[in-house]
Amino acid sequence: MKKRVILAYSGGLDTSVIVRWLTERGYEVITYTADVGQGEELSEIPEKARRAGAVETIVEDLREPFARNYCLPTLRALALYEAKYPLSAALSRPLIAERLVHYAEKLGADFVAHGSTGKGNDQVRFELSVWALNPDLEVLAPVRSWEFKSREEQVEYARRYDIPVKATKEKPYSIDRNLWGVSIECGPLEDPWLEPPEDAWQITLEPQKAPNEPELVVLGFEEGTPVSINGKRYERLSELIEELNRLGARHGVGRIDMLENRLVGIKSRELYEAPGALMLYEAYRDLLSAVLDRFTYHYFLTHVPQQYAKLVYEGLWFTPLREALDAFNEQLARLATGEVKLRLYKGSLQVLGRRSPNSLYVEELATYSEKDAFDQKAGELFTKVWGLPLKVLGRVRRRKA
Ligand code: ARG
Repeated sequence: MKKRVILAYSGGLDTSVIVRWLTERGYEVITYTADVGQGEELSEIPEKARRAGAVETIVEDLREPFARNYCLPTLRALALYEAKYPLSAALSRPLIAERLVHYAEKLGADFVAHGSTGKGNDQVRFELSVWALNPDLEVLAPVRSWEFKSREEQVEYARRYDIPVKATKEKPYSIDRNLWGVSIECGPLEDPWLEPPEDAWQITLEPQKAPNEPELVVLGFEEGTPVSINGKRYERLSELIEELNRLGARHGVGRIDMLENRLVGIKSRELYEAPGALMLYEAYRDLLSAVLDRFTYHYFLTHVPQQYAKLVYEGLWFTPLREALDAFNEQLARLATGEVKLRLYKGSLQVLGRRSPNSLYVEELATYSEKDAFDQKAGELFTKVWGLPLKVLGRVRRRKA
């Protein structure tokens, strides 16, 4: 019997060449393509895959499960890798891996394949996720080992086997896009001092060209789930995120330029565009600041966002640690009902206000007007006791000097 492999297939040159390359090596290739909101027409994918040699092709719309099961928990963790990157590409890999495993088991394939390179993070995310779900599956990553040294050689190979190659001049960038954001790398961006050429940005308008009028956006949350934009309810979270992407992109909001530490030890220059995700992060953080007491809020900020971001970035989605953090964040999310008002203006994103039935803000306590209900005399004693250790420290230091 022929060896069956299920390949994560994007329809691009690399993965199309992989279909043929594996077929030539005696594998029966089944392609798997997910719609995670990459904004591409997927109707031609099956035909493309077949022409490259696939025996079977699967295309699935995963936008809603991606939004609910991956983007939402990451939002609730306020996870930003190295304090900047909302993890868009990193998040789609465990989901795709989960589906690859599902179909491998269903269709009797012993192998799973992907088109990631040997120096990126995605190989790690795919493989760790596959193994966590089914340790008996073997993973093939042809790009790490094949003979092609350049894009030209791949194009030549594709032509030889009559695999259609897009005639358009390819952009020099490597782009990964989904609902949660766009990642852009390579080409001129490899010089970290060079200002990103305008054509590198895929969805956001140049801030200078954005409308001269600011736009207000009121985001509504129910128990930690974003449910409305300016009062309009969205049943599908994926649609709400897509709408926020459109709104933010029009105002040049959501651009990120960073040098990041990859898992394999190198630093790389990356651009991201994540208007919707960043708007949600701003709003959700603000809502938590209103509904969580100080102890819980500080504990969350200290322990969750960075840890969660590392887990996602480093391919550790399917771990008890991630599940436990999700349970913690869900508990806090129950309080996060309310609205946050944001302003979008020429690339900037600002919180203008927030309100919640669970808000712990008490105006009588905060006010400096005559309504003041705070006993200021208590402040004197509080300060005395709180400051006692510093008084003692000051004494000891002065004695030594
Ligand atoms: N550096 C980012 C990450 O590791 C983006 C990777 C995107 N992949 C790509 N093929 N462009 O999450």
